[in-house]
Amino acid sequence: MKTASAISLLSLAGSAFAATYPLTSNIVGPGFYDAFDFQAIEDPTEGRVNYVNRATAQAQNLTYASRDTFILRTDSKTVLRPDGPGRNSVRIRTKKVYKTHVAVFDVRHIPQGCGTWPAIWETNEAVWPNGGETDILEGVNDQGPNSVSLHTGPGCVMPATRLQTGTSLQLNCDANANDNSGCGVKLNTDLSYGPQFNAAGGGWYATERTPNFIKVWFWSRNDPTVPADVKKGGAATVNTDKWGTPSAFFPNTSCNFKKHFNEHNIIINLTLCGDWAGNEYVYPSTCPLTCVDHVNSNPAAFKDAYFDIAAVRIYS
Ligand SMILES: *[C@@H]1O[C@H](CO)[C@@H](O)[C@H](O)[C@H]1NC(C)=O
Ligand SMILES: *[C@@H]1O[C@H](CO)[C@@H](O)[C@H](O)[C@H]1NC(C)=O
Ligand SMILES: *[C@@H]1O[C@H](CO)[C@@H](O)[C@H](O)[C@H]1NC(C)=O
Repeated sequence: MKTASAISLLSLAGSAFAATYPLTSNIVGPGFYDAFDFQAIEDPTEGRVNYVNRATAQAQNLTYASRDTFILRTDSKTVLRPDGPGRNSVRIRTKKVYKTHVAVFDVRHIPQGCGTWPAIWETNEAVWPNGGETDILEGVNDQGPNSVSLHTGPGCVMPATRLQTGTSLQLNCDANANDNSGCGVKLNTDLSYGPQFNAAGGGWYATERTPNFIKVWFWSRNDPTVPADVKKGGAATVNTDKWGTPSAFFPNTSCNFKKHFNEHNIIINLTLCGDWAGNEYVYPSTCPLTCVDHVNSNPAAFKDAYFDIAAVRIYS
């Protein structure tokens, strides 16, 4: 009796501790400039964009920070020469790297419009795909709902049945399999992406990564089930045990997370066209012209191609 109750008390304490994380980074407004580097690199996905540095982004107002807002967008003023560089846009990456952590993204608006391919994700670019990748929010051409996905080296597979509200797609996370589609989970609500996400005032994406699993939750702005410690913003601690069933759950049943996932940066990028948004089968199903012609000739079509992020909060 005595031993049994001591053990159950210990395991209770253990699980409560494991799911409670203290706030370590509260990135809000101008804080984005301290926490993130601007990556003026060639787009690895062949997009019709020209990623600019911080000075150019600020000079052209492609990023803008106020007390509680960070805007990141693509240019919506310039008609492009077909043989010149792509549309100016922005890709930012955290200076810090994370292993076990919770990240909460309070997002009011994501880029929308034909040709847009926004993403909020985590990876280690130097050793991709062997250090793993978690795509928290990603989509193209306003086609929702969002799919949350992992990409890894060989030997990481997800079980078909899991405790999640979303629907499993491919189960093999290996980036070398299935044309790098990864092991995705399609969320169960159209409010999770595109114009529908924006019309609802956005919402919160959150991820919890431990050595044993990765979970991602989504709550739309007016979802009555959004946990108090998420909604409050800047809470000193969060307790993921109280967050309910995740939208997407990636357990360690057939994936050794310690091996397949190493230290990750958080990346926020907005590309246009490229391998996915501009794909010759994907783009024409909902959008006009060719993707590249649309980007070149219709700057005003990109005025809603912006992120408005209230905060990125890291608990670790
Ligand atoms: C943008 O993010 C996605 C992650 O979902 C990634 O696959 C893609 O390579 C990124 N593109 C650029 C240009 O950074
Ligand atoms: C820059 O963008 C912000 C946010 O969209 C806007 O409020 C501000 O007026 C813009 N500044 C200029 C100089 O255009
Ligand atoms: C898998 O995760 C569970 C908890 O979710 C943990 O108890 C177990 O030790 C993990 N297995 C391995 C092989 O890491």
